[in-house]
Amino acid sequence: MNKELKILAVVVFFTLLTYWGVEPFAHSQMHKHVESLNMAYNGTADIEECSADKKEAKKAFWADVATIAALKGDATAGEGTFAMCAGCHMDGAVNMGGVIPPSLEHAGALYDKNYLIALVKDPAMASNVDHKYADTMTHPMGSIKTMVTEPQDIANVVAYLLEKKAGELTAKEAYTDACSRCHANQYGNMTQLGDTPKFKYEKDALAHQIKVLEEQDMVKGYMGKLPPDLSIIIRARAHHFLETFIENPQSQLPGTSMPRVGLSKEGFHKVMTYLEETGDSHKADRDNLGWKVILFFVIFTVLAYLWKKSVWSKLH
Ligand code: HEC
Ligand code: HEC
Repeated sequence: MNKELKILAVVVFFTLLTYWGVEPFAHSQMHKHVESLNMAYNGTADIEECSADKKEAKKAFWADVATIAALKGDATAGEGTFAMCAGCHMDGAVNMGGVIPPSLEHAGALYDKNYLIALVKDPAMASNVDHKYADTMTHPMGSIKTMVTEPQDIANVVAYLLEKKAGELTAKEAYTDACSRCHANQYGNMTQLGDTPKFKYEKDALAHQIKVLEEQDMVKGYMGKLPPDLSIIIRARAHHFLETFIENPQSQLPGTSMPRVGLSKEGFHKVMTYLEETGDSHKADRDNLGWKVILFFVIFTVLAYLWKKSVWSKLH
């Protein structure tokens, strides 16, 4: 065997060893594998990962959620209870304990039923950030615990959301309601205050910027740090990471202050669509170009082959 071939064999061997041996091993050591929950919420992971003294409370909480989920909710009766939610979740709502309460106009489509039940029962427990509070009443939505206490009332208000506050929601609405109170999205021209308007005068643009900075300070105070801009997160993180992170941020980043956002399958799909549209808007063009490039190479190969044949035919 000549020297070049041996060198090539050595290079190929080490490349494959790195690709199939070293890299997957390092990856498995640095990132534990997190199973997707398929956008279903029953607290199994919360109970497993919490400290020993919290286990019983978490078990009891999620067992209650399951009991309420089995009740038949009455959407008409739930409308009355919803008035209490609307006291905080209204158009033009202002910052409340760190964030602006999101619109619930599409909550029935955006969030999962079990999650909504858990959230009305105890917001901090539902979103798995109870470890941040000595008393979960102090969560910005914590007072709901004293406003809606009866299991049947919880079932009713959730039935109301699922029946009357579902409807079609666009990808942008899904992102706005689920994420934008904390995360800006520069490519989508959005801040924690929603869409950034076009201003005629620079003075007005600057005044708006100041309001954004003030809002961000409050979010920072609540979360301990400013949540990152999500413009290009779709390129930085894989689909599986984003799915499991939204289902349960603690699973990927233990101790993180980001609460669980209990999205439904539809809600998650819409949020991802928005992140793709803003963060990777040329993906469709790129995919579309792929087959054209391959076609070009196929035709080029055929032509090159025919040309070679015709050139060589004259030399024999
Ligand atoms: C005292 C004010 C207040 C009341 C009353 C209230 N909420 Fe909230 N709600 C908030 C705030 C503040 C947030 C944002 C919390 C956060 O992002 O950490 C929120 C968040 C939510 C979310 C998003 C949760 C998530 O994980 O992304 C939903 C859904 C919701 N509330 C539903 C309701 C429903 C249903 C009711 C009535 C039964 C209700 N809220 C009553 C203040 C309130
Ligand atoms: C109540 C505030 C809040 C909401 C709502 C929220 N996040 Fe976050 N998010 C945070 C904070 C805080 C961090 C920083 C976490 C850290 O570094 O510990 C974060 C971090 C992230 C990260 C970065 C993870 C990493 O390290 O790569 C992603 C991705 C993310 N959020 C996605 C989302 C999406 C998508 C939504 C909407 C479905 C959302 N978040 C809603 C507060 C929030």
